Amino acid sequence: MKKILTLGILCLLSLCARAGALDEIVPRPAEAQLLKGSLRVAGISVKCDPALGAGAQAAVSAFATRLGYISGKTCPFSTPPGLADAVASGKTRGILFLQDASLGPEEYGIRVEGGRAVVRTSALNGVLYALETLRQLLPAAIYGDAVAEKERWVLPCCEIRDRPRFAWRGMHLDCARHFWSVEEIKRYLDIMAVYKLNRFHWHLTDDQGWRIEIKSYPLLSQISCWREGTMIGQDFSSNDGIRYGGFYTQEQIRDVVAYAAARGIEVMPEIELPGHMLAAMAAYPELGCTGGPYAAWTKWGVSDEVLCVGKESTFTFLEAVLGEVAELFPGEYIHIGGDECPKTQWEKCPLCQARIRELGLHGDGRFTAEQYLQNYVTKRVQDFLATKGKKIVGWDEILEGELAPGATVMSWRGTAGAKEAAAKGFDAILAPTSHCYFDYLQSEDKASEPLGFNGVVTLEKIYSLDPLEGIPAEQAGHILGLQANLWTEYISTPEHLEYMLLPRMLALSEVQWCRPEHRDPARFLQALREHEFPVLDLLGYHYRKTLNH
Ligand code: ACM
Ligand code: ZN
Repeated sequence: MKKILTLGILCLLSLCARAGALDEIVPRPAEAQLLKGSLRVAGISVKCDPALGAGAQAAVSAFATRLGYISGKTCPFSTPPGLADAVASGKTRGILFLQDASLGPEEYGIRVEGGRAVVRTSALNGVLYALETLRQLLPAAIYGDAVAEKERWVLPCCEIRDRPRFAWRGMHLDCARHFWSVEEIKRYLDIMAVYKLNRFHWHLTDDQGWRIEIKSYPLLSQISCWREGTMIGQDFSSNDGIRYGGFYTQEQIRDVVAYAAARGIEVMPEIELPGHMLAAMAAYPELGCTGGPYAAWTKWGVSDEVLCVGKESTFTFLEAVLGEVAELFPGEYIHIGGDECPKTQWEKCPLCQARIRELGLHGDGRFTAEQYLQNYVTKRVQDFLATKGKKIVGWDEILEGELAPGATVMSWRGTAGAKEAAAKGFDAILAPTSHCYFDYLQSEDKASEPLGFNGVVTLEKIYSLDPLEGIPAEQAGHILGLQANLWTEYISTPEHLEYMLLPRMLALSEVQWCRPEHRDPARFLQALREHEFPVLDLLGYHYRKTLNH
């Protein structure tokens, strides 16, 4: 009798969905309601409306294969024509993906009831987000590699309608200070996709290394991608003496871009200019005001050596580089840097001064002639990229002087840059050091943390960010969204990189995705403990496991 009772309870449990699953979805959906019952999914048919396209079909098919494998019962996948009619007439069962043109490209709806789960979306990103949500509703084992037949492979009956708050949900990675392999970048993209981020800001060039092959300037991937050693820890007078470098071939770049696109992520490359160009100048010293010699920097910081913008040959170089970059990256934006460009060389350089005179630039008490000269560079590059169908993004220094219409400002020195940009009619993306710099330590207990910048950005701090604070409602549409930046001066291993990223990126994902009324720190922490940490473990990521600060 006892045996039968135990068996009965086990059977009942196996029909129940994961307790609290709906509350543990990160980022939290806009609307989610639990209904009565559950749907068994081991061995279930998975069908995708052919109208959703090849990318969506591939993603849904991969989900079906994985669900079948992990649950121990094959889930047949098909793309039947007339699926929408079959669903409407109630004739078909399974997990059913339908196109619904009334939804935005990042929206989706899921209704699980009556022996089926119907997913409605209009485009690839909606499909991908619905799949991530379905995964989050299943046992965490779905993220692992081991067959887990004994798990409860059921979805709770529920109704979810979801859409992101912000269109720009980014994560940046500095590949110049330390170089990350294509495999490491793909792991970075993988975890971004799990939490519905959709922009990868790829920082490819800086004083300490040039990381992208440019066919018309081959020395960039022969000389500029190397530095003769790296400072040790935070000792600016040191050098470990180890030659360090690496670059991505154009083929690798295309591979990363395609990999990201399949995961709903657009890649925005960053080519820093006119400052942070020392590595390029090491190979092509004529790019500098003094003519060099220059060498890629072995220490961190801001170099006084910047591009000489008095020479036409500098613009020939920039147009060649940006022309190749525009070809490689199909996305809408190219980031042109613009931050931390000291003007000391321009003040001394006869050619830069001649350019200032030729353009009739003058200091006016607010900005110097050299700051206006940087505007000229920004505008020339912006006009060139416009001929390639691209828009520019620049760090908030590009607002100094006169910024030409159409540029997008990335506000890193706090949120003031975003406020000023929006007030002046420019689009803006938030990435303030105060909340979004993931190279800062994760805890006030600095001694317990690995090497990093001395600032602190805790999980709580990110979660508390109100991206629209201080932005008048009529300007809010200019705030495209937000991202976190992961500079890698002090990070040299993939384990350390992932530790700095996680779990902070999960808090970021809720700030990016959720309306303020749906954010709840207690629920979020509970979701991390109960579900997300097991997910990160199964995926093999390194992350900060303690939730206290
Ligand atoms: C920056 O952190 N210099 C944009
Ligand atoms: Zn010059």
